Amino acid sequence: MDKIIGIDLGTSTTEASVFQGDRPVMILNFEHQEITPSVVGLDENGDIIVGERARGQLLTAPERTVKEVKRLLGTSEQISLGAQQYSPVEVSSMILAHVKAYVEDRMGEEINQAVISVPAYFDEIQRQETMEAGVAAGFTVERIINEPTAAALSYGLEHLEEESYVLVYDLGGGTFDVTLLEMFDGVLEVKASSGDNKLGGKDFDQRIIDYLVQRLREQQGIDITSDRAAMARIHDSALSCKLALSTQEEYRVQLPVIAMKNGEPAALDEIITREKFEEMIADLVERTHEPIHVVLSDSGIAADAIDKILLVGGSTRVPMIRRDIEDYLGKVPCALVDPDFAVAQGAAIQAAIISGQIDERTGIMMTDVNPYTLGVRAIHGYDDAFMSVIIPRNKTIPTTRKKKYYTSFDNQTETVVEVYQGESSSTKYNHQIGRFMLSGIPAKRAGEETIEVSFSYNQNGMLQVTGTIVSTGKEAVIDIDMLGTKEEQVDVSDWKSAELAGDYRAVIRRAEKWIRKNEPEPELEELLYRLKKAIIENDMEEADLLEDEIDDYMD
Ligand SMILES: Nc1ncnc2c1ncn2[C@@H]1O[C@H](COP(=O)(O)OP(=O)(O)OP(=O)(O)O)[C@@H](O)[C@H]1O
Ligand SMILES: [Mg+2]
Repeated sequence: MDKIIGIDLGTSTTEASVFQGDRPVMILNFEHQEITPSVVGLDENGDIIVGERARGQLLTAPERTVKEVKRLLGTSEQISLGAQQYSPVEVSSMILAHVKAYVEDRMGEEINQAVISVPAYFDEIQRQETMEAGVAAGFTVERIINEPTAAALSYGLEHLEEESYVLVYDLGGGTFDVTLLEMFDGVLEVKASSGDNKLGGKDFDQRIIDYLVQRLREQQGIDITSDRAAMARIHDSALSCKLALSTQEEYRVQLPVIAMKNGEPAALDEIITREKFEEMIADLVERTHEPIHVVLSDSGIAADAIDKILLVGGSTRVPMIRRDIEDYLGKVPCALVDPDFAVAQGAAIQAAIISGQIDERTGIMMTDVNPYTLGVRAIHGYDDAFMSVIIPRNKTIPTTRKKKYYTSFDNQTETVVEVYQGESSSTKYNHQIGRFMLSGIPAKRAGEETIEVSFSYNQNGMLQVTGTIVSTGKEAVIDIDMLGTKEEQVDVSDWKSAELAGDYRAVIRRAEKWIRKNEPEPELEELLYRLKKAIIENDMEEADLLEDEIDDYMD
């Protein structure tokens, strides 16, 4: 079996690990370091450089150096390095190609397979682009694994016997993830994941940068925002300041020649206290609460039932973060995994499970969930942007779910299936992740043709959507831009477990008997369907109206 490595492709730093013997080990880069800065640049000759060398020129050649590119995945933004333009996928693939090169150098063999981690809260497109970057770097991407799940795997491997609820709190350079897992008998079952793709240590840096820029403006009347070199130095100082404030109470930012003013050098000299820093980032810290709340409520587990809190990601070294977790969850988080290596090691464990180095029956197993609700746009009464949910968020994956839709006007021969992700009941506020047209529907009266939409969500957190015209068996999964309409049909088979069920059981039983005894009764069947739907939707007013109509029909 070929070796598969695990890669944590981070916003700020990247790490690689491989499973050897009975545990994952970190792989050292060309500089003999476990950690490689996720920085890419062009050197004086226009050659691509990655990692420490690229980071070294952030200050001296900011115009041909880029960092934190992971934040741009899933966007159409272009990155300029010198005169060249690159996509976020291309820059990410340069980092991964660099990892491939140092891993092969270190291990003395070709390595073509990888498991790559992504934030749990990455969406479909960001996952897809991470995969593309891996392929462009020459890897077969065996699996995309969620970062907090990977971190939990590296903890789980060492604690196979444990039974507990574990909350993984991962605050890195650019993203925040929170995941709740249940552990028992070597099984790690993810209960729920949530997060914020745009929250991390980078934002803490930005607050200090903004503050320093503002101070320069106030005190010296200098605006350095368009001076790329000065801004690069401010960035650098802000980062040093933040790191220092994790262990000391104050830090002095001193830049003697930050800019020129009236031909004279202007200096920046500021003392920033930890207290001041905490004031600057207070609202960012507050933003971590909502995802924690979502994870607890989606999994139905109370905060005091959590047995352990695993801290992952460099930004969990900020004292205010630790204090906030303790205040918010009422439990002291502990340093149970290495915050820098746990994700890469977990990816390597996942790789070993795939390659068979770890036997699933005797070793460790895990299940994960989808972080976003997935559905299609449907017509619902007067609402033509109704989010018809097919896979609710935080369901165990892989999963396949289907739903039926009906033609909404006479002689409708085609429809466009628009796929959305997001938590709003209106697709207007959700994110469209794909669309395709299904044509060749036999021309019939409205509602007489059925389209079945099937969502298959795989272990990589990627979605495949199939639309089928039930009467002909024709399927489609193509991307074509066209507008279309359809009506939603909900699954009402479970109406008996709804709260209102008791009130209408008698009339439903009578109607069902009537249908069995008589000729086909499409009108009554439709009324019955609508009644069950109203019961499920807890709509008593509508249910009462329908009960009367059904009674009238049978009289
Ligand atoms: N001692 C420290 N105090 C405060 N912040 C720190 C410290 N050490 C590292 N950081 C911050 O942690 C972040 C990097 O963490 P990490 O390497 O875990 O992120 P990443 O994996 O690259 O990002 P992500 O997981 O968001 O994609 C940076 O913002 C860095 O400044
Ligand atoms: Mg990370």
